[in-house]
Amino acid sequence: MSKFSLILLYLNFLFTISSSSTLIPLGSTLQASNRNQSWSSPNTSFSLSFIPVTPSSFVAAITYNAGDVIVWSASDGSNGTGDGASLVVNSGGTLNLLSNGALRLTNGSGAIVWDSATANRGVSHASLDDLGNFQLLNNESVQIWSSFQNPTDTLVPSQNFTVGMILRSGSYSLTLDRSANLTLNWNDTIEYWSLGFNSSINGNLTSPRFMLQSNGILVGLDPSFARGMINMAFTTDYGESNDVFRFLRMDNDGNLRIYSSSTGNNGSGNITQTWAAVTDQCQVYGFCGNMGICSYKDSKPVCGCPSQNFEPVNEHDGRKGCKRKVEIEDCPGDVTMLQLEHTMFLTYPPELSDQLVTLAIVACRTNCLASSTCTASTLVADGSGFCYLKTPDLVSGYQGAVLPSTSFIKVCGQAIPNPSPYQEASAKDNDSLHTMVIVSVVMASLLALVVVGIGFWCLLYSNRNKSGRMSVQYELVDYASGAPVKFSYKELQQSTKGFSERLGEGGFGAVYKGTLANRMVVAVKQLEGIEQGERQFRMEVATISSTHHLNLVRLVGFCCEGRHRLLVYEFLKNGSLDKFLFTSKDQSGKSLKWENRFNIALGTARGITYLHEECRDCIIHCDIKPENILLDEGYTAKVSDFGLARLMNPKDHRHLSLASIRGTRGYLAPEWLANHPITSKCDVYSYGMVLLEIVSGRRNFEVSPETDGKKFSLWAYSEFEKGHIEAIVDKRIKDVDSKEVGRAIMVSFWCIQEQPSRRPMMGKVVQMLEGVIDIDSPPAPKPAVEGSSRGTTITVNSNVSGLSTYAASTPAPSSSSSFMNIGPSPPTPETEMGKESSSLLGLKRSETDPDS
Ligand SMILES: *[C@@H]1O[C@H](CO)[C@@H](O)[C@H](O)[C@H]1NC(C)=O
Ligand SMILES: *[C@@H]1O[C@H](CO)[C@@H](O)[C@H](O)[C@H]1NC(C)=O
Ligand SMILES: *[C@@H]1O[C@H](CO)[C@@H](O)[C@H](O)[C@H]1NC(C)=O
Ligand SMILES: *[C@@H]1O[C@H](CO)[C@@H](O)[C@H](O)[C@H]1NC(C)=O
Ligand SMILES: *[C@@H]1O[C@H](CO)[C@@H](O)[C@H](O)[C@H]1NC(C)=O
Ligand SMILES: *[C@@H]1O[C@H](CO)[C@@H](O)[C@H](O)[C@H]1NC(C)=O
Ligand SMILES: *[C@@H]1O[C@H](CO)[C@@H](O)[C@H](O)[C@H]1NC(C)=O
Ligand SMILES: *[C@@H]1O[C@H](CO)[C@@H](O)[C@H](O)[C@H]1NC(C)=O
Ligand SMILES: *[C@@H]1O[C@H](CO)[C@@H](O)[C@H](O)[C@H]1NC(C)=O
Ligand SMILES: *[C@@H]1O[C@H](CO)[C@@H](O)[C@H](O)[C@H]1NC(C)=O
Ligand SMILES: *[C@@H]1O[C@H](CO)[C@@H](O)[C@H](O)[C@H]1NC(C)=O
Ligand SMILES: *[C@@H]1O[C@H](CO)[C@@H](O)[C@H](O)[C@H]1NC(C)=O
Repeated sequence: MSKFSLILLYLNFLFTISSSSTLIPLGSTLQASNRNQSWSSPNTSFSLSFIPVTPSSFVAAITYNAGDVIVWSASDGSNGTGDGASLVVNSGGTLNLLSNGALRLTNGSGAIVWDSATANRGVSHASLDDLGNFQLLNNESVQIWSSFQNPTDTLVPSQNFTVGMILRSGSYSLTLDRSANLTLNWNDTIEYWSLGFNSSINGNLTSPRFMLQSNGILVGLDPSFARGMINMAFTTDYGESNDVFRFLRMDNDGNLRIYSSSTGNNGSGNITQTWAAVTDQCQVYGFCGNMGICSYKDSKPVCGCPSQNFEPVNEHDGRKGCKRKVEIEDCPGDVTMLQLEHTMFLTYPPELSDQLVTLAIVACRTNCLASSTCTASTLVADGSGFCYLKTPDLVSGYQGAVLPSTSFIKVCGQAIPNPSPYQEASAKDNDSLHTMVIVSVVMASLLALVVVGIGFWCLLYSNRNKSGRMSVQYELVDYASGAPVKFSYKELQQSTKGFSERLGEGGFGAVYKGTLANRMVVAVKQLEGIEQGERQFRMEVATISSTHHLNLVRLVGFCCEGRHRLLVYEFLKNGSLDKFLFTSKDQSGKSLKWENRFNIALGTARGITYLHEECRDCIIHCDIKPENILLDEGYTAKVSDFGLARLMNPKDHRHLSLASIRGTRGYLAPEWLANHPITSKCDVYSYGMVLLEIVSGRRNFEVSPETDGKKFSLWAYSEFEKGHIEAIVDKRIKDVDSKEVGRAIMVSFWCIQEQPSRRPMMGKVVQMLEGVIDIDSPPAPKPAVEGSSRGTTITVNSNVSGLSTYAASTPAPSSSSSFMNIGPSPPTPETEMGKESSSLLGLKRSETDPDS
């Protein structure tokens, strides 16, 4: 009788409440020992059952496709505490839907392992629907508890992830805040990744949510969105196949991933990753534990210890981190700093941490050594010169040949470096340097005691010589902690997918986009026409890479193999400045605000100043033009292609001459066209032209009826004299700062003075732009060498020093394309100018000559 009414009740639920979910009445039980038992969704896609972890231990879980994918499990993180680990029971374990309405997991011993905490809250039955949601409902179908509301580490399609929810896996968690930022956190404190809504719609959110759609798009939702949702991320196979089951999981390595399971109906169990939040796994905070160092081996992240002063906490699991063999507390008076090249200790968020600005590597080391709270420090050699002092409990390391940082960590006694591929060179140099010093000292004392023959003297002399050369090399490595990486041609071929994605064509060769093993995106430049030996090439590369400045493109590495000469640079998202300045049919939409333009002008000037005046081996760029000014995401200007002029003509770099360089017409200083030696004032001239273009959005050599048939730069000066500044300024700029515009225009006229001596040095240009010093009204620049040719890259051949003739290269994108060839007999320069530049050269020559 009672059985019959129960069945009636069951049927009643089945037909009145929901036809797409299975109803589970109170009092139902699943037993771990009986593998046949499960509560399945109507179309059997999902089921709640015991899943064996080992033959004798089980977890209670909701799975997709008969155990293929665990989408929820009873775990100690499911009510917001614990580390999210699934709770394991033995074969006597049971899952009961108690008559008081609680769902309870008990171990064989009878101990309560997990409980839904819904006892006596009116639960009348449970259900599992075809989306995978397990719910506890009351007699009016109001949800009391659900697996969707209490996720563990996985989200399935159409499951809402709302503010206050948490996906947890070990020390890692995923949360969503009120301003709709989805963030990955370590230990609930350190946020190392985030994904937010488009900031322009971020104002009025009421209940922001994220959801993975079954088509593979991660969307953001909020009732305030008129259009309903915004796409936040796409899987690699989004929208492709409807047979695929996709899910998002917080993995225990700290990464958030989306997977596709192409199970179909056959249960092949093929699960592939189709999206990851953190593309560079080594950037996940704490991935290798405390004091562990993450690096890549065959494109796979691996964990190691900083040096042999450390040992792994768990020999079989590198991710547990490392510990010192002798702790710092047990080491009074003998603490030293271990130096790690190409290594950084992760700092999130960088701007909030304990940092100090220093350009000296020594200061970054000693500051940490002197502080009792500091355990490690990192100097970033990307031009910012930031030194981060690490004080928190966890020090998370990342070592990679392309990282421009040097790190230090406290050790007891002498540092014993690892035999790591990246450190080999410097460590060896260091060691041999030490040995050399010791040998020299011993010999010197021997000599002081015993008078020996001349033979000994010779030996000592040669030794001293050797150690001197070594120290120069070592110094270079030390200074340039972002020392360039040597890549093999094959590696670069792989990372550029066989040089398939061409970014552009520069004066020195084509540039391709590539992705290195650590997912860093780079621009690979294939140099043409370089026939120098490897040693020479490497020396020039070392010079280029010893420049570290925010406004210079960073050289990551190089390749020098057979006839191949390639340079690997950081990739800049916004491309080159010319695309923003000059309108063409296809890019008419792109333009820059005045604020951006002014910052670009200032940044470029700072970059060039550094090349001219602040770096060790001074570099004259020789080819400054908008095409060589690249912009990063924040529109910070980065000068590229510096130092290449010397690469082209290394044999003769003490006489840097016209013959060796391909400059670009329109930006070339007049003395250059006259085949006079080149000084840094040539760069000032080119910069002045670029500056005028930044203000005007017009090519300086453009001639049009609008400019009275004059070259734009000359016409602009005549307008300036008449006080018509606004005629010069780009019409597309809405809000200009008239003071800044005025300064920029005056500076540009000073820079393009025909007489090099009248042009200011770049350092002064920066001050003038900043408004630190007053600017006199500039005199007329004077018509420069007026030619019929406009806007083309000129090719120069010369027999002056018997150099080879370089082939014509790409014309600058302009109206005209007539080539001008400056032959062996250059046009006669104006006498005054000629005198000027040669006297200047006498002064400047030493700057271009590192050997003197
Ligand atoms: C239930 O499991 C037993 C073995 O434990 C098996 O023999 C039986 O066929 C299963 N029943 C069903 C319906 O699968
Ligand atoms: C359940 O019992 C087994 C053996 O009795 C034990 O190993 C296991 O840790 C227990 N599980 C929990 C969650 O307490
Ligand atoms: C989470 O569950 C455990 C037992 O399963 C319980 O002791 C704890 O109080 C719960 N925490 C919260 C915040 O509900
Ligand atoms: C079960 O139902 C869900 C939701 O309607 C659907 O996405 C899924 O493809 C179905 N599975 C099967 C095996 O029919
Ligand atoms: C649900 O249960 C409550 C008491 O727990 C009862 O008052 C109410 O009438 C019930 N509703 C339905 C639709 O059965
Ligand atoms: C997700 O949230 C929306 C809006 O609150 C709701 O309409 C939808 O049913 C929710 N989805 C699930 C699976 O609960
Ligand atoms: C959330 O993201 C916005 C931009 O998307 C950012 O401005 C804001 O600072 C972020 N908030 C937090 C708490 O990270
Ligand atoms: C942000 O929203 C604005 C306006 O809705 C839109 O124009 C812009 O493209 C969006 N940006 C991104 C990155 O989605
Ligand atoms: C916020 O909401 C108010 C009222 O609904 C509206 O007037 C305002 O434009 C909204 N602001 C944004 C940034 O959407
Ligand atoms: C399962 O795969 C076999 C071949 O591998 C195929 O013939 C069969 O139709 C598939 N079954 C379903 C339901 O897709
Ligand atoms: C799994 O997927 C991969 C790539 O999509 C494919 O190459 C492989 O054959 C698949 N394996 C099975 C068993 O379907
Ligand atoms: C994790 O955070 C807590 C406080 O939020 C802190 O006490 C604890 O030391 C942290 N753990 C580590 C390993 O840093």
